[in-house]
Amino acid sequence: MRTDPLSFLGDELTALKAQGLYRHLRVLDHEQAARTKVDGRDVINLSSNNYLGLTTHPKLKQKALAALDQFGVGTGSVRTIAGTMQIHVELERRLAEFKKTEAAVVFQSGFAANAGTVAAILTKDDFVISDELNHASIIDGARLSRAAIKVFPHRDAKAAREIVRDLPASARKLLITDGVFSMDGDLGAMPELCNLAEEYGLIMMVDDAHASGVFGRNGRGTVDHFDLHGRVDIQVGTLSKAIGALGGYVAGNRNLIEFLQHRGRPFLFSTSHPPSVAATCLAALDVLLEEPHLIERLWSNTEFFKDGLRARGFNIGASESPITPVIVGDALKAMRLSDRLFEDGVFAQGIGFPTVARDKARVRTIVTATHTREDLQFALDTFANVGAELGLI
Ligand SMILES: Cc1ncc(COP(=O)(O)O)c(C=O)c1O
Repeated sequence: MRTDPLSFLGDELTALKAQGLYRHLRVLDHEQAARTKVDGRDVINLSSNNYLGLTTHPKLKQKALAALDQFGVGTGSVRTIAGTMQIHVELERRLAEFKKTEAAVVFQSGFAANAGTVAAILTKDDFVISDELNHASIIDGARLSRAAIKVFPHRDAKAAREIVRDLPASARKLLITDGVFSMDGDLGAMPELCNLAEEYGLIMMVDDAHASGVFGRNGRGTVDHFDLHGRVDIQVGTLSKAIGALGGYVAGNRNLIEFLQHRGRPFLFSTSHPPSVAATCLAALDVLLEEPHLIERLWSNTEFFKDGLRARGFNIGASESPITPVIVGDALKAMRLSDRLFEDGVFAQGIGFPTVARDKARVRTIVTATHTREDLQFALDTFANVGAELGLI
């Protein structure tokens, strides 16, 4: 009998269990919504990135169905061979218009957009200057590029400046930050980093995955929020969170976009979105422009929920967005909190290493525009009960 050459993975899994870092996948029995059913239990859902409730918006569903009917279920090709339909081109035109840039290109996911872009534009002779809490897709893109990676402490533009000052003046350098940090909900040091980029001739890039549809006018993102139009060279957004479907995009000048169409490896080597996804995203852009009350509701819910958690004595970090972490520290405790909340009807995932630092385990909450006040009140009461039971407050 052949011995299993993968048996070491079993040891790894055992170690994860001992550290409280092993998770069973929770399974939704219904649609992705503010109230849903997960693993057979009715819950208030505080775990999705469905900020505006667009996953189930009637206009998006109707456009998706119409595209399915007209164009079929898939494209059968990568974009550069036969996988570009008129609807993909139209989506990119609308995204560029929305972000106020010359052009945009869509990737299959936000992950692919970040990793594909960073890897395409840099070489081993270049430098990436990156916030320590930037998303994994940025880190992976930087690794793939083989550029030297220089990490600055979270949101510390002064430290970034010291790093940049010591780098060779002639080298190509990319300065990059998340617009909204996905685990802490705080904002990147965008204005300060733009100043630095301009002073030293750096390429400035922002990952606005959690900002698009949330920050800025009609959800145009952090560049609009901070009034930095024309000062950020590369804006990445996702179509998988507030937009409610799937995908990522890069918005910037025409040279950047055409270059990515030639060198962005996920664009070149992976099949394009089904037309129904492109149609869904187009409809979502219409909703962002036509239904601003959704974003207003998201923000009033956010304030209500943050105030409630703070008033009950939880450590909610420094979030400035609808992402609110309840920081616990120890991973086993964070997972226990998540499990107990779930038993009592609140779905809020526990997050541990390697997604966050080992001593910063937490339960992460995200409210949406579609939660009612009763939903949020119930969630706050449940947090208070379980938090007291576990000695957290
Ligand atoms: C900050 C950030 N960037 C990029 C991504 C990747 O986006 P997507 O889920 O569309 O691949 C995510 C989410 O998972 C994220 O949180």
